[in-house]
Amino acid sequence: MKITVMENAAQIGEAVGKLFVDAIQKKPNIVLGLATGASPVPTYQYIYGECQKGNVSLKEVCTYNLDEYVDLPKSDKNSYYTFMHKELFDHTDIAEENVHFLDGNATDVEAECKRYDEALSKAGVDIQLLGIGRNGHIGFNEPSSYFTKGAFKVKLTESTIEANSKYFDENPMPHYALTMGVGSIMQAKKIVLIATGSAKADAMKAMIDGQVTPSCPASILQFHQDVEVYMDKDAAKLL
Ligand code: F6R
Repeated sequence: MKITVMENAAQIGEAVGKLFVDAIQKKPNIVLGLATGASPVPTYQYIYGECQKGNVSLKEVCTYNLDEYVDLPKSDKNSYYTFMHKELFDHTDIAEENVHFLDGNATDVEAECKRYDEALSKAGVDIQLLGIGRNGHIGFNEPSSYFTKGAFKVKLTESTIEANSKYFDENPMPHYALTMGVGSIMQAKKIVLIATGSAKADAMKAMIDGQVTPSCPASILQFHQDVEVYMDKDAAKLL
């Protein structure tokens, strides 16, 4: 694991944004695994800034998002489909047919998860971007007694509901989501994880210094050969 501690979220956004822009310039049809939440927003701003300046094109880039809420309309302002369009896609030249999500409204959840897993393994993710939950989750793989290989429907923990319910001012936050499994996340050739703020300090300590255990799903990244972690001083304070 390559660990970089930086001053603040803006610096991390620039560093990780550059990493992605370089990778896209080298491989214009790169396959990216993407995350939502606050952590990747500065990175997305950097990427679309470079796209708007004409320094990079996302025309051939293909993306797969980590997760989506269950039973939340795609058009809801809190769906991850809407989030990604608002925070990244709408400001770039990416082709809509190249962006992929789990369908949280699928009636046959099992078939939907299978479809996504097959698409993911066929595409092969080059770089997976991750945030981390306060409880050590990656995607919505919540702490558990086992690691899950493929996509599945998950009941969100109290910690995740508490962290994300601030965004749900009109409707209550869904308590279920579909998420890529840890096994699929680990298939990515390279993984980049961002953590900022002291609320992530315990999770970062467990992920980096703790045992590899499904009670801290992110700890499995210790077994991946190419992981880059970017965090601010607050997230790194227990290391
Ligand atoms: C989002 C996701 C989650 C978040 C994590 C951190 O697609 O999969 O694992 O990355 O909950 O969220 P923020 O960045 O909002 O602290």
